Amino acid sequence: MEHGRASKTALRVAHRRAVHQVLDQPCVFSDAIAVPILGPGFVVDHGRETGRRARAFRAFMAARSRYAEDQLAQAVARGVKQYVVLGAGLDTFAYRNPHRELRVFEVDFPATQAWKRDLLAQAAIAAPEGLTFVALDFEHQTLAEGLAASGFDCRSPAFFGWLGVVPYLTLEAFRGTVGTIASYPRGTAVSFDYGLSPASFGPLRRVAFETLAARVAAAGEPFRLVFTEKELEVEMHDAGFIRLEQLDGEALNQRYFQGRSDDLKLPSPGLGMLATAWV
Ligand SMILES: C[S@@+](CC[C@H](N)C(=O)[O-])C[C@H]1O[C@@H](n2cnc3c(N)ncnc32)[C@H](O)[C@@H]1O
Repeated sequence: MEHGRASKTALRVAHRRAVHQVLDQPCVFSDAIAVPILGPGFVVDHGRETGRRARAFRAFMAARSRYAEDQLAQAVARGVKQYVVLGAGLDTFAYRNPHRELRVFEVDFPATQAWKRDLLAQAAIAAPEGLTFVALDFEHQTLAEGLAASGFDCRSPAFFGWLGVVPYLTLEAFRGTVGTIASYPRGTAVSFDYGLSPASFGPLRRVAFETLAARVAAAGEPFRLVFTEKELEVEMHDAGFIRLEQLDGEALNQRYFQGRSDDLKLPSPGLGMLATAWV
């Protein structure tokens, strides 16, 4: 991330979620604020959005948000009352939070958060009671420091959503953040996505990975971190998590894209992995 510049990839993924609301029925991830938050500049380019590549990316964005919010709902049912959205971008959960007692903390790079707050104001989307903004750069401050200064209760369990962020971090920042989450009480969990290490890819898949990597690098947000499934398992175990779930594209298709008449689904091989780790 460049100092003082909002994330461009945050706008791209928010756009994909908004297009999902308009073009894909039924929605895998329903979000009534996905379109309004983008303001009058949001337009759907039908030619582009009905292409194979755009549909695949949209399916992944929808699946990962749905997965995180499904995991959150299960955590809330078990009594969790704090949700921390790490690298929140234009995530809209806080503005349609159905859980009355759930406090939400949006943690993000300062320039991205300032830009989002402008968009919210322009769209007249009010910040609900129980929402706290935490401006923080994972590369220069620890999550523990940011949360300690924001009224987060570190003696109670919390659920963390961390979507579309891990690939952009250094290993040091990743370890610092998972280490902080693992230090919170039993019942705490984190859902996130990560990119698979291209070392094991065949030539076609490697080209697809390199094309995407070039696109995000051109947006000033290069990929810096990938794992194999085994490496991720070791990272989470060493950080102190006691349970880990990992889902690939095939598992996500089984869970979220069965029986659709429009054939929306994740491509094989998938675009990334989803994981949840429990303390
Ligand atoms: C691809 S966007 C994903 C946004 C959101 N989670 C979503 O799914 O729509 C990446 C997000 O990570 C944040 N981010 C990237 N590097 C960061 C860092 N070093 N510190 C804080 N936030 C960071 C960006 O500001 C941006 O909001």
